[in-house]
Amino acid sequence: KRVAILISGRGSNMAALIEAAKATDYPAEIALVLSNVPGAGGLDLAAANGIATATVDHKSFGRDREAFERAVQAELESHAIDIVCLAGFLRILTPWLVGQWQGRMINIHPALLPAYKGLDTHARALADGVTRHGATVHFVVPEMDAGPIILQGEVPVLPGDTAEALGKRVLAVEHRIYPEALRMIATEYKLV
Ligand code: GRF
Repeated sequence: KRVAILISGRGSNMAALIEAAKATDYPAEIALVLSNVPGAGGLDLAAANGIATATVDHKSFGRDREAFERAVQAELESHAIDIVCLAGFLRILTPWLVGQWQGRMINIHPALLPAYKGLDTHARALADGVTRHGATVHFVVPEMDAGPIILQGEVPVLPGDTAEALGKRVLAVEHRIYPEALRMIATEYKLV
């Protein structure tokens, strides 16, 4: 399966997916890394790994969200992509683009969904005094941070945790479960 990873920033989850896909028995090839932010840190690492990169800057489309998404879709199609992984991609997608990829677009979220959708998940979990936190890989549906869950990873919340310390612990789990979740859906998903 040919996979595109959509990023906006440092791309540490992207890096984990690239590393995992190097294994000869991995059922997916990272064929494209696309950023909506010019110069996003992850682009250099992708290029250094010989992966095609593309930048579709949402700012150059003004308020025209559909034109931005058509440009993203055109990149995905021109690289013959089968599966899309959102990895720190900070644009909310319209139902149109999500609909093009139903069952073939996944996202990683730094919380145990359905708890803590949205931003600042670690600080909110700490403020609530929860004892377990973690990360979720899920299929993307039009509603934000909803959609069927593929895999979750848990971490303990430790005494004295800061949002930063907790976030680091969660990130390590993200880097473990995202490649595993992609492996699962790339194996299950049959091309029609
Ligand atoms: C991760 O915490 C991910 O769960 C969230 O955005 C962050 C992206 O980090 N969706 P990175 O760019 O993969 O390092």
